[in-house]
Amino acid sequence: MISCPVRFARILLVGSASQTQPTEALLKCEGTWEYFGPFSIAEAMQHLRSGMDPDALLIVPGPEMTGYLALAREIKFGHAPGRIAVIFLLNAELVDGRAAAYQAGANDVIQLPVSRDELVLRLLNAVRAKRATDSLENATVVITSLAKAIEGRDAYTCGHVERVATYAVEIGKRVGLGEDDLAALQTGALVHDIGKIIIPDHVLNKPGPLTDEERANMKRHPVIGHQILQPLHTFQKALPIVRWHHERPNGQGYPDGLAGEALPLLPRIVSVADFFDAISTDRPYRPALPPESCRQVLSEAAEKGDLDAELVGVLFDIFAAPVLVHAVGTGASDRCDTP
Ligand SMILES: [Fe+2]
Ligand SMILES: [Fe+2]
Repeated sequence: MISCPVRFARILLVGSASQTQPTEALLKCEGTWEYFGPFSIAEAMQHLRSGMDPDALLIVPGPEMTGYLALAREIKFGHAPGRIAVIFLLNAELVDGRAAAYQAGANDVIQLPVSRDELVLRLLNAVRAKRATDSLENATVVITSLAKAIEGRDAYTCGHVERVATYAVEIGKRVGLGEDDLAALQTGALVHDIGKIIIPDHVLNKPGPLTDEERANMKRHPVIGHQILQPLHTFQKALPIVRWHHERPNGQGYPDGLAGEALPLLPRIVSVADFFDAISTDRPYRPALPPESCRQVLSEAAEKGDLDAELVGVLFDIFAAPVLVHAVGTGASDRCDTP
């Protein structure tokens, strides 16, 4: 018998009792995981909706596949897409449905009959992949929560990173970015100021202007943020945003003084969103600018090459949308983001 390094895997078996019987016998023989079922499609859906969180769903469809494919689609692409591994076991009559099963989001399709060893190995692979994804997502949640907690130390920046993420993703959609880049914008914007963990509270909340030394220290936050996130695979696409969100197209930004095409699109977008939030919300030393003044300051920044002029134009297009107009003046922002 194959040893099972993945302990306490929770398997949910779906199908009619007559269809699932051979598979159930194999699972029983293995004896290393907890399995539930067999359940009908409706029962399985009910258990999942009421919070059951199995590692894998083993689906043994029959006599036809339609409802089972719908169940898989609901799990993989529905309102609350799950990370649950979905494995179809198809008998000889249904084996032509392999492609349909994969299209419905199946992680694996196994032809019946199957040996116990093969079933165990393929199930273990699916459970391992699912748990690896869980770990990555857990890391993302921890880091983004940390970033929000760091921002929360600054009494003047309440909600800053969420607003920057909203604006950045909206700009990204308007310039036609794909899902991956939009996801990077969302994550990168949420963690862009994580390097401020090194800034003492009294400096973050200082009502007057910063000393040269304090400002120099504050300007280290993009590099510190980059160093914090660099080892984490899941933040790789967000790294340029974290490091370069204070760079300027005219080369006058920091920390690397990138200019022109050397400054990638995603940090350019976040820099416009960050700047807009900084001027449209209260700061320790001045109140939020009204919308017309925001427009003027943004135009001047675009003319000087402090911001990407095209992206500022896109922001102006969005500006007319009620959701962003209402966002103006709702909080405060990053004291080192604006002139
Ligand atoms: Fe920043
Ligand atoms: Fe910021």
